Amino acid sequence: APGALVDRFGRVATDLRVSLTDRCTLRCSYCMPPEGLDWLPTEQTLTDDEVVRLCRIGVERLGIRTIRFTGGEPLLRRGLETIVAAAAGMRTDRGRAPGLALTTNGLGLAHRARGLADAGLDRVNVSLDTLDPEHYARITHRDRLPDVLAGLAAARSAGLAPVKVNAVLLRGVNDADAAQLLDFCLAEGIQLRFIEQMPIGPIDAWRRSRLVTREDILALLGAAHRLSPAPTTDPHAPARLWQVDDDPSRTVGIIASVSDPFCGACNRTRLTADGQIRSCLFAISETDLRGPLRGGVDDAGIARIWADAMLAKPAAHGLDGMDFAAPSRTMSRIGG
Ligand code: GTP
Ligand code: 5AD
Ligand code: SF4
Repeated sequence: APGALVDRFGRVATDLRVSLTDRCTLRCSYCMPPEGLDWLPTEQTLTDDEVVRLCRIGVERLGIRTIRFTGGEPLLRRGLETIVAAAAGMRTDRGRAPGLALTTNGLGLAHRARGLADAGLDRVNVSLDTLDPEHYARITHRDRLPDVLAGLAAARSAGLAPVKVNAVLLRGVNDADAAQLLDFCLAEGIQLRFIEQMPIGPIDAWRRSRLVTREDILALLGAAHRLSPAPTTDPHAPARLWQVDDDPSRTVGIIASVSDPFCGACNRTRLTADGQIRSCLFAISETDLRGPLRGGVDDAGIARIWADAMLAKPAAHGLDGMDFAAPSRTMSRIGG
């Protein structure tokens, strides 16, 4: 009988986030050092077939209903379309294909949006922190803003809906660009979400005292627009929404991971590019599936190891507390 991924606190994971590579085409200051990291060797990275097999075990045996592909930068995976097509052919416990989403920095998306949509991808979240080319280059260490904008346009015309934009605000760098980014997204029909920076990149990149909080973001946007809380539709969504200028079709989201944690409603389980299960973004420990997979353990056995791994899921990340310890794996190796 199909099982479920239930933790000690009764939370059920139905959303799988799969990191397909730890490599990236950008070097966002809050995520990675400018020189990059020691990338995973190819032999430690799951193959396309291995990724597909683990997704299938999640969907067919463990109650996974939505899959999000992340990185690093998932568009660096040549086999992405093949993996998406295979996932689109799976059936959840509700008899439907799993919901399939991608989180990308947008570089190269212009050329692949159509093919990904054809393969069965439903939607994309694109990281874009500013529309100012200089500020963009300062944050990402690459001068690629036009590629991201082309990627967004292609995603929209390929029907990958909704298109969302994720923006991290850094005090004194791009915080003053927030209102312009909102106006752009509203005009383009893109769902913009601002994200509070989390201490999961380079250690010196995060200081609580420098954090642009939800309160700060509401004040920044409030100078140009009237914002009112919008009703929540998905109780598991990390973003809370605000209606802009009393128009229900125009909203902006804020993901307040630090100032207002949403761990109690978490429905996620994570698979890293090297085949480790992380029960939480901030988990200290991981559970290896690659070894058992390559060692010949059958699907039922893999499912059991995965289900057991969820028992290590902490109640909350506690990252605003005194004894918070950042995980040794950085954001680009987890996939957010
Ligand atoms: P939607 O289904 O479109 O809402 O996706 P999402 O917002 O969950 O995914 P996305 O990859 O766009 O991530 C946006 C931000 O939310 C990133 O900064 C993630 O790190 C953060 N985030 C996603 N999942 C979690 C989580 O389980 N815990 C915390 N604290 N942050 C998360
Ligand atoms: N804090 C918050 N969000 C982050 N992201 C990357 N690093 C951090 C961080 N330290 C965001 C990216 C991307 C998403 C997956 O996570 O901007 O949109
Ligand atoms: Fe790459 Fe995303 Fe990290 Fe930026 S935040 S360096 S786009 S993995």
